[in-house]
Amino acid sequence: AECDDAVEALSAAAEHLAGTAPVSFETAPADAEIRLTRFTRGLGCACKLRPQDLEKVLGALPTPDDPAVMVGTATADDAAVYRLRDDLAIVQTVDFFTPVVDDPYDFGAISAANSLSDLYAMGAEPRFALSVVGFPPQRLPLSALERILEGAVDVAREAGISIIGGHSVEDPEPKFGLAVTGVAHPDKILSNSGALPGDALVLTKPIGTGIVATAIKRGLAETEVAQSAIETMRTLNRVVAEAMAGLEIHACTDVTGFGLLGHLREMAVGSRLDVELHFDAVPILRGARELATADVVPGGSLDNLEHVAPHVDWSSNRSRVDKILLADAQTSGGLLVALPPEEAESLVADLHQQVVPSAGIIGRFTAAGTGRIAV
Ligand code: CO
Ligand code: CO
Repeated sequence: AECDDAVEALSAAAEHLAGTAPVSFETAPADAEIRLTRFTRGLGCACKLRPQDLEKVLGALPTPDDPAVMVGTATADDAAVYRLRDDLAIVQTVDFFTPVVDDPYDFGAISAANSLSDLYAMGAEPRFALSVVGFPPQRLPLSALERILEGAVDVAREAGISIIGGHSVEDPEPKFGLAVTGVAHPDKILSNSGALPGDALVLTKPIGTGIVATAIKRGLAETEVAQSAIETMRTLNRVVAEAMAGLEIHACTDVTGFGLLGHLREMAVGSRLDVELHFDAVPILRGARELATADVVPGGSLDNLEHVAPHVDWSSNRSRVDKILLADAQTSGGLLVALPPEEAESLVADLHQQVVPSAGIIGRFTAAGTGRIAV
């Protein structure tokens, strides 16, 4: 039946392109039937450019020489930080991507949570956001865009901010995200590169969202598996950021498109340390392992693995699926935090009380080094 539908849709599109038929909205799906992931090739943060390509392009650009720039393009950090006064800095980020789930409301909520995450990872307090929209009005009803925005508004409200503007373009693939502006005291900015030897490594959300999103797109995800991934992705990192506020945090980042290993690698390289990851302590989304075993894996995750593998020492009992899980491109992942072991214990205990059950200590920074990861 789907093939027949496709034939009809393709014939209609061909006729339209040939100029014999007017644009018709009649073939646009009704709200209840919209499956956003059918309108895209890449999924969520997995649609980032390949890290190896991005490095090449960005490396060729001049570095900014404005002395007010505190965090810019020199480090692979989560947001830009610009000093306004001795006691005030602007922290700014922008993030947008293609649908990672089918429901427009969920997509808007997840994308908003993901965009806000970069500010929480920098220790900043979000103040307001602008939306970034790509939308195909010939392929989808405008009500879908309305739902996307509603999802984003609701999550922004949970973060205590408003969306006060934005920009939209026509785009054959739907895309959505936020540019978020926040503030922080210049001395309180968290970077992804200040870890010290002996620091414990805490992760606050389970990994595997790239794999589950791929299963959703292919129609292979069981309802509960999809639902728990959606719940994880739309959860703000705000509670974690607030729990971190009184602690001695040495480094922090959020786990997104480059996967746990990719973002850990950035942290280790930036801190000039080697790090040890305890595989069995890493929380994994329900269903993700089974799906990865069945080869339901986004291309971006395999790119990630290829990119990071030369810097990883695997213990001999790690399977290919284990490696893929650790490299899986995450959308709206948890925070990855380096802090002294005692502080890590109390952070995790605090988070368990505050309904962040998956938070745990997953490794430690061992000694000065070149950013090698032992798994
Ligand atoms: Co980030
Ligand atoms: Co980001």
